[in-house]
Parts: sequence; C-alpha cells; structure tokens
Amino acid sequence: MKQSRNSIGKEEIVNYAYVCQLTESSITVRYAIISDVHGNLPALEQVIGLLEHRDIDQYLCLGDVVGYGASPNECCQLIQQIEAVCIRGNHDEGAVSPAKEQWFNPEARACLIWTRQQLTEDNRRWLKSLEPTTQVDDMVLCHGSIPDPDHYTITARDASYSFQATSAPLIFFGHTHYAEWFTYQSGEAMPVQHQHPEGGTCAINEQARYLINPGSVGQPRDRNNQASFAIYDDQQPEVAVYRTPYDIQAAQQMIFDADLPAIMAWRLSWGI
Ligand SMILES: [Fe+2]
Repeated sequence: MKQSRNSIGKEEIVNYAYVCQLTESSITVRYAIISDVHGNLPALEQVIGLLEHRDIDQYLCLGDVVGYGASPNECCQLIQQIEAVCIRGNHDEGAVSPAKEQWFNPEARACLIWTRQQLTEDNRRWLKSLEPTTQVDDMVLCHGSIPDPDHYTITARDASYSFQATSAPLIFFGHTHYAEWFTYQSGEAMPVQHQHPEGGTCAINEQARYLINPGSVGQPRDRNNQASFAIYDDQQPEVAVYRTPYDIQAAQQMIFDADLPAIMAWRLSWGI
C-alpha cells in the first residue's frame, strides 16, 4: 500500500526535528481522524474549527466526503485545504462512476446523481484520484474494511477480515457511521467489540491490535446526532473519540433548498 502524496508522514517531521537537534523518540505526531462527512458543511466546519485548537499535525479522512448532503464541493475543498490524507468511500466512487449507482437505494442514488451534477471538474478529478486504502506510519486506513471498501464492519467476525488483512497495530475504518472500536490480541478466537456512541477513550497497548471507527462527521447513525471524530497522539497510547453538537438545522435547510430527498435532512436530527 502506498502513502498518499499529500500526506505529511512521521518521516518528514522527524527530518525537521533532526535539524532542530531533537530525537525521534521525543517527537509527537497528533492525528485527527474524520470520516463520512457526506457533504455536510456545517458539521465539517464545526469539527475542523475545534481541531484547529488541538495542535493537529495531520488529518486523516476515511472516505465518503460527498453523498447525501448539500455541500459536496465545499466539503471536498475543505478536506483538500487541511491537506488530509484521504481515501475513497463508496459514495465518493458513486459520485464519479455512474456504473456504481445500482449499488445504492433510490434516495441515495438521487443524492449521488445530484452530487455528480454539482461537482466541479477539479473536485471530480480529486475524488477519482483517491485510493481505497492507504498506510500512514503504523496505521492502515480503509473505508468499510481492508479487503473490501463496500463491506460493513458491524460484528466481530466482520472485524476479523481487516485484522487478517494486515499486521498493522492500528487500523481505522468508517462506512457504518458508528463510533466504536474492536480490539484483538493474538491467541483470541475473535476480536472484542466496544461501542461508544457517546465518545470515549481507547487505551492502546503493545500486546493488542485495534480497529477503530471515529464515527461520522456528517451523518451519524448511532442514535447520537452530534458530529463525531477522533484524535490519536502517537506518543500517548490512546485514541480518543469525541462528539460535538453542530448546526443541524442549517444542514437540513441546505438539503431542503437543494431539493434533495427530505429523509436525508430528518435523519440528521434522529442520528440514524
Ligand atoms: Fe458513509
């Protein structure tokens, strides 16, 4: 797996630190992990606004920047502005590949067709350039699962497919729009699931491996309508998942104004 060209990996930061006479062990890289923005600009602006005050070195985005919401171009541009390492979600692919449309239900398909009509040529090209998975330092990023970006990781058995596909200690995924994580220790029959719709902290230890979903920025489905995201500090052995309220009514009004299916607005209130 190759690292995205727009990433700032640990190596570059370590090179800079060498000039400053620091050692690698003293370098901290803080990652912000976001997923499933789904064209919801009020939610994305709220999350990025918070993260701007958290000394983030590198943003990681797990796909589905577009689809459902009314601001596909603005969200693509903001993700590029923050220089996120971004992978492709199934809606990103559907928005630029008409052949993929048949995979979606009628409402989602209507949103994709609308999104495709709205996308600028630059953003269409950017979405097309995204890879389905990538590796950043000791982390693997995927959308649904490592073997299959369209696969929903819901159960421990689903999680085992990604653990089997890599030996990386830390894997991030999205697609289900649930904030949760799976832990796996060698010798265990199955990964263990930990659901955290209110947010929480996953302590990292070297004996285990982790498959973590930061939840959805723009369309949470874990019955918590607040935007979700995570922060990983590689010198601090934990990944923290946060929830934040945002202007849901503004996002809903934008969906109504764009004449997108109304259910996409209502579900934002319900968190489903
Ligand atoms: Fe999604």
